[in-house]
Amino acid sequence: MERSRSCAISVNELTKVYGSLRAVDRISFCVHEGEIFGFLGPNGAGKTTTVRMLVGLTNITSGRALICGHDVVKEYKVVKRLIGVVPDVSNLYLELTSYQNLMFSAKMYGVPRGVREERVKELLKFFGLWRFKDTKFKNLSKGLKRRLTIASALVHNPKVLFLDEPTSGLDVMSRRILWRQLKELNRQGVTIFLTTHNVYEAFHISDRIAIINKGKIVAIGTPEELSRKFSTQEVIEVAFQPSNPELNDLLEHIKGALDIRRVGDHIEIVPLDKASVIENVAKYARLRGLEISMLRLRSADAEELFLKIVGEAK
Ligand SMILES: Nc1ncnc2c1ncn2[C@@H]1O[C@H](COP(=O)(O)OP(=O)(O)O)[C@@H](O)[C@H]1O
Ligand SMILES: [Mg+2]
Repeated sequence: MERSRSCAISVNELTKVYGSLRAVDRISFCVHEGEIFGFLGPNGAGKTTTVRMLVGLTNITSGRALICGHDVVKEYKVVKRLIGVVPDVSNLYLELTSYQNLMFSAKMYGVPRGVREERVKELLKFFGLWRFKDTKFKNLSKGLKRRLTIASALVHNPKVLFLDEPTSGLDVMSRRILWRQLKELNRQGVTIFLTTHNVYEAFHISDRIAIINKGKIVAIGTPEELSRKFSTQEVIEVAFQPSNPELNDLLEHIKGALDIRRVGDHIEIVPLDKASVIENVAKYARLRGLEISMLRLRSADAEELFLKIVGEAK
């Protein structure tokens, strides 16, 4: 039997209602201590709202959440010392330098005066920001801004770090550097809760992933488990003669597809319902007087699995 580990974040039936909208709808999960937990979902799924409830930035409508065993509402003061928060929009001061920003955060978090400077130096070095210690925040590149924002959330050595879409808008290189730094932080013992709408990122960085759609968790597991769970999912590859039709025309006629796209000399269709898509492809070919020169199935990749999972929840 697997030895049960304690939950760094424990969420039970957590709900947030805005008027008639259930932005987060009775979600429950446990993030184990030492994990990188990916919270994956499309725009508007409820990721930011969840993070904001967990870190005490917005009220909880109902349900409960604990961080390292402490209630995020009733024991807010204890929780605040245990967590670091990297919001989707940076909260640092434009006119302060990297060094000044971190020193200010350290002061705000109550880091003792005697160790502040040492901690700030350590963080600047860890994030490759030492060269930029005297650069004003407003003059840093996007990637460096993001890194400094993360550094600022770590001044008080939190046990759990929340990051809301930390790599969105970053170029490939900055994104990779950030992934490496987050993995290293995690290796040093920080539990990481990271939201993203990027499937590749979630599968690449997470030990476990929860997929959220329309306020509900629709799947949860390790990347391998999620892939296996949906491994029966297939993508239909099809080619027509004398030539492949316009995508718009296909989209209009082939119902039951989650996605249709052109790839090289053929068309790929992610089906919601395989049988009806194949049937509709045949019908479509007859309708347009085309011949189907190729039709085969292949297994889906991570991004296509995500479409399938999110599509099913509709
Ligand atoms: N302050 C608010 N008032 C009303 N609706 C909100 C508010 N914040 C978010 N929402 C709505 O809640 C849903 C979830 O939003 P959000 O948590 O920001 O999603 P995500 O971060 O996954 O993109 C969306 O439909 C959004 O429009
Ligand atoms: Mg968001």
